[in-house]
Amino acid sequence: MKELKLALLGFGNAGRAFARLLLDKEAEIEARYDTRVIVTAIATHSRGNLVDPRGIDLAAALTELSEKGHFAKSVSGTTMDIVTGADYDVLVEMTPLQILTGQPAIDHIKGAFRRRKHVVTANKGPIAWAYDQLAQMAQEQGVFFFYETTVMDGTPVFNLAELTLKMARVTEISGILNTTTNYILEELAAGKPYDKIIATGRKLGFIEADAAMDIEGYDAAAKLTALLNVLMDAHMTPDRVDRTGIENITVADIEAAAKQDCCIKLVCRGAMENGQVVATVKPTLVPRGDLLATIDSTSSVVSLTTDLMGKLSVVEHAPLIEQTAYGIFGDVLRVLDGIHG
Ligand SMILES: NC(=O)c1ccc[n+]([C@@H]2O[C@H](COP(=O)([O-])OP(=O)(O)OC[C@H]3O[C@@H](n4cnc5c(N)ncnc54)[C@H](OP(=O)(O)O)[C@@H]3O)[C@@H](O)[C@H]2O)c1
Repeated sequence: MKELKLALLGFGNAGRAFARLLLDKEAEIEARYDTRVIVTAIATHSRGNLVDPRGIDLAAALTELSEKGHFAKSVSGTTMDIVTGADYDVLVEMTPLQILTGQPAIDHIKGAFRRRKHVVTANKGPIAWAYDQLAQMAQEQGVFFFYETTVMDGTPVFNLAELTLKMARVTEISGILNTTTNYILEELAAGKPYDKIIATGRKLGFIEADAAMDIEGYDAAAKLTALLNVLMDAHMTPDRVDRTGIENITVADIEAAAKQDCCIKLVCRGAMENGQVVATVKPTLVPRGDLLATIDSTSSVVSLTTDLMGKLSVVEHAPLIEQTAYGIFGDVLRVLDGIHG
């Protein structure tokens, strides 16, 4: 039986959910691909690193982290040491998003490409800040580079366009891409006070400890940029998005919208105007009957307008961490398909 070796950079919510899915599907992968997918390295920021070229016992690693919070037999060295030195075929980039730079994830990915390793990233920073350069490096090195999880978790968006909308040109992308702001706006409309919404959202895990990057529209701008770079060759970075967050939206604004039978949503849009892609993220009045008005709480939607297939929309309904894991898993399967194909 063949082997595919993965190095996991980051072993937090996404990394652990992905590890659980790999364990669940181990037998099915082996049967379908005649390949054992093993994890040969795990890097974290504060819990230590594991390295074993014969394959880490993933179930034991998960148990150890949940019981002790760190790896007892940690290998010393930096994350970059793992990128440049460990024995793996696919680097899986799952470190936290640095929304204003995309680093150090961009350097992790470049390091893997230099060694002719495939890369799967759940981290959108590199796609928003350095997509052109990374895609070119992957092509030059003859390796796969997949990033489905970076926008709407495992929901097929990039794959939808690339694999099923052959030769259709995307001319406009729009949608609701940030669930934190969607949740806050909906709770405000339901009459709840802002402080209580934030406290409850944090308790339920919908809102990060530092929600400013969501509330001020930076996260939505990064996701929109990633979509525009890949699907519309926009060659842009998130700082070129005309961005307004929801921080100044008041209950009075929401009530005024309701009087017009509308709601307020943080809408992302990118389209060709005068030969270049123009991108905006801003609070927008949406009529109640519109698809966007039905996207509630932690759900999200993206609409692609194309020349050959008109406009089509994909909705992700209230995802859990398992949908993030599936996005990463699906990309690893694409690597397997590519290697076997
Ligand atoms: N969670 C989701 O639903 C979701 C959905 C789509 C995309 N993503 C993306 O997936 C990535 C991971 O998300 P997450 O929710 O798993 O985050 P998380 O729970 O905060 O976990 C991040 C992991 O990365 C580790 N880490 C931090 N800096 C590192 C470094 N320089 N080198 C190596 N490891 C490092 C952390 O180490 P410690 O354990 O020591 O802190 C932790 O294990 C992010 O880029 C996120 O935007 C997440």
